[in-house]
Amino acid sequence: MARPVPLGVLISGSGTNLQAILDAIEEKRLDAVIRVVISNTEDAYGLVRARKHHIPTEVVDHRKFTTREAYDQTLIDILQAQQVELVILAGFMRLLSPLFVRTFSNRIMNIHPALLPAFPGLHVQRKALDHGVRFSGCTVHFVNEECDQGPIIIQAVVPVFPDDTEESLSARILKEEHRAYPRAIQLYCEGRLRVVGRKVLVDGLAKEESQVLIHPPLKDEEG
Ligand code: GRF
Repeated sequence: MARPVPLGVLISGSGTNLQAILDAIEEKRLDAVIRVVISNTEDAYGLVRARKHHIPTEVVDHRKFTTREAYDQTLIDILQAQQVELVILAGFMRLLSPLFVRTFSNRIMNIHPALLPAFPGLHVQRKALDHGVRFSGCTVHFVNEECDQGPIIIQAVVPVFPDDTEESLSARILKEEHRAYPRAIQLYCEGRLRVVGRKVLVDGLAKEESQVLIHPPLKDEEG
């Protein structure tokens, strides 16, 4: 694998995860280079972030295409022209066709703001709150043909508090997304990820028994 790894980032919105990846590259925590940022909407703030870092941007408006395959083929053409190795979905609000997934097999990552396989789909922070879970978090996974069901690379866990709102929980999760996504990409860049069936094996990982979490904590008195 050539280093740094060439990335293509797909966005639809504010692009804070894109920003975290840009920052990690600049701070040399991530051995990658973003070749292109593609958005399906021209008003995505992530495009502004990319341009500030002199990253080439493209807007490919899905409304101008009659089929998902035709849309995805346009994305594929741009990504391949830039010799992108790894595709990063960072708040890209479009489902990808089997054509796209097969073209970049095990080379597409997505981040989801819940602990998959719980709460796939949309509005998942709301669903986690309504369900009364004690923990939520985020999941970085490889993308397969089923939505939010690809092999899991990394998860970060946050507690859910009784007075949480959708906004407060989303903010707590988003902060961890910004740490987890560059980390997952760097594991790929280091050649440490192997997909075996449903599982992603990470080479050279220490086993830490102390990572156990319990919420409410065993010692819950204040002070
Ligand atoms: C994040 O919550 C991510 O998990 C989800 O879409 C949101 C994108 O946020 N897939 P941003 O555009 O990176 O700020």
